[in-house]
Amino acid sequence: MKFTLFNRVAGLRAGQHAVVTGGSSGLGLALARRFAARGLSVTLVARTETHLASAAADIVSAVPTAVIDYIPVDVADGSAVEAAFDELPAGLDVLVNSAGILREGYFERLAAIDFRTVMDVNFFGAVNTIRATLPRLKRRGGRIVNIASVAGLTGVFGYTPYCASKHALVGFTDALRFELNPQGVGVQLVCPGEFDSPMVDALELTRTPENRQHTLTIPKLGIDELADATVSGIDGGHQLIIPGAKTNVLVTAQRLAPGIANAIAQQRIAAVYRGPGL
Ligand SMILES: NC(=O)c1ccc[n+]([C@@H]2O[C@H](COP(=O)([O-])OP(=O)(O)OC[C@H]3O[C@@H](n4cnc5c(N)ncnc54)[C@H](OP(=O)(O)O)[C@@H]3O)[C@@H](O)[C@H]2O)c1
Repeated sequence: MKFTLFNRVAGLRAGQHAVVTGGSSGLGLALARRFAARGLSVTLVARTETHLASAAADIVSAVPTAVIDYIPVDVADGSAVEAAFDELPAGLDVLVNSAGILREGYFERLAAIDFRTVMDVNFFGAVNTIRATLPRLKRRGGRIVNIASVAGLTGVFGYTPYCASKHALVGFTDALRFELNPQGVGVQLVCPGEFDSPMVDALELTRTPENRQHTLTIPKLGIDELADATVSGIDGGHQLIIPGAKTNVLVTAQRLAPGIANAIAQQRIAAVYRGPGL
């Protein structure tokens, strides 16, 4: 049995191998590029093969020494993940679960399938990849890094499916840590606020005014600032990483005084309230 003080995990090292789901875009790609620059070999995972190939080429052009591979698979499909991950080497040092999707809208206007799809990818996707890699992670005393969200720690207008999936991921991660840490596997949780990425570009096309107003409470980070802060938290072995000093303070305050935070948020939302119009 191996316990580390405060469950801290050792730093990243050259020669380690990382699997990054959602590695073809946004935060996953930005983390993969940083891992490659640190001398880790990286396997990118996402559904779209062409995007994976261009992400791999993008990393190699930035880091000519990079060793990058990719696996096209839908993380929501547990058996497909098991089969596809068969080709991974026997030992694995880092699993980052960054694959994620977003559905924003009024609860009454969302369909039941929106809830299922978001849970399937954002929550069960992580469960599936962890199940498929755990023996490899145990062999190397590796670490799991789950990318949740500030929306996994608090409620956000318009994010009923997304908040549910990210709260599930947060609870799962915090419970799993107790089981895996004694077996030498680190479990880290990242809860970013909004940051620039294709996910947010798509959101901007349809988002409700209430959601836009509510999310303005937390500063939006650029992808480089976000990825640098995330790698620094991963490297520092932190259990909970909330990238960005201001975001960290605001989220901590929200969690300490939820009544006040909710009252302020409700007031901001009221100023732009439109509602589902049903
Ligand atoms: N952007 C934000 O403001 C924000 C804030 C907080 C937390 N987050 C979280 O951070 C993570 C990364 O977000 P991002 O903004 O970087 O997203 P992004 O740019 O939209 O990238 C999402 C990645 O996930 C992959 N993916 C989606 N569904 C998948 C599936 N079923 N199976 C395998 N791969 C799948 C996508 O590739 P394919 O589509 O080709 O599969 C893509 O590589 C997500 O978990 C997100 O919820 C984002």
